[in-house]
Amino acid sequence: MIYVTRIAEFSAAHRLYNPTFTDQQNDETFDKCNNLYGHGHNYVLEVTVKGLPDPQTGYVIDLKLLKRVLDERIVDLVDHKHLNFDVDFLRGVIPTVENLCVAFWHRLVQHLPSGELHSIKLWESDHNVAEYFGAPVTIPTFGHSSETQS
Ligand code: NI
Repeated sequence: MIYVTRIAEFSAAHRLYNPTFTDQQNDETFDKCNNLYGHGHNYVLEVTVKGLPDPQTGYVIDLKLLKRVLDERIVDLVDHKHLNFDVDFLRGVIPTVENLCVAFWHRLVQHLPSGELHSIKLWESDHNVAEYFGAPVTIPTFGHSSETQS
């Protein structure tokens, strides 16, 4: 099995808070990340696909196609956006780096032209990173009726 990784970058704002918490609970839980108008990160997204190289091309996946899928399904929708307000597929989700990994997985898993999604790794900063391998996780949503993810 060969593992192939494509790296994408985007900049976005978010605010970490739970609308069912009191202001005091949000302050105690999320501290500076609960800043009312949000704060920004330069995110680095690593998407790893696994498979065997195609005998005709030598590719597990054509990285140009993977880039296009990443752009269309994720990067173009989140870059220079406020993740709490501007992104339909994150509506009601607390946009922690953990929850973003899971949401991004669901954006990609059915849309790869070849290979199988192995992991999503998301760097929120040089110090904070989460990685997801697709085990079932339900992300709770707050304040919005549930919508079907496409
Ligand atoms: Ni943050």
